[in-house]
Amino acid sequence: MREQVVCNSTDLKPGEMMKSTFGKQSVLVCRTPDGEYYAFMNQCIHQGAPLDKGMLCGATTESSNPGKYEYCHKGEIIRCPWHGREFDIKNEGRMLANPNKKIPSFKVRVEGEQVIVYK
Ligand code: FES
Repeated sequence: MREQVVCNSTDLKPGEMMKSTFGKQSVLVCRTPDGEYYAFMNQCIHQGAPLDKGMLCGATTESSNPGKYEYCHKGEIIRCPWHGREFDIKNEGRMLANPNKKIPSFKVRVEGEQVIVYK
């Protein structure tokens, strides 16, 4: 099993994300508002945008109307910086608009202050 420390647990506050590396792979480490850590390939599956340049946000609910948006899953959605595709962190990085597609993910565990990504 390959594993690597990608950051310290204090590097990310809940609701933040950062770029790191896992071997030669650029990875996106995310911390959701509940304090959990997740890691994904740092490359959008659409046209390859660096996802760390995007943002963590929420998803609009079905009860939203033009000009009046209601959000759910705040801080659990990665929005791509190039064309706005959105991926659900807590649902294996699946694309909101097409759940059959997802960003490749890595397993994560925290030991003391070390955030470790592994396969
Ligand atoms: S490259 Fe991410 S939505 Fe197009």
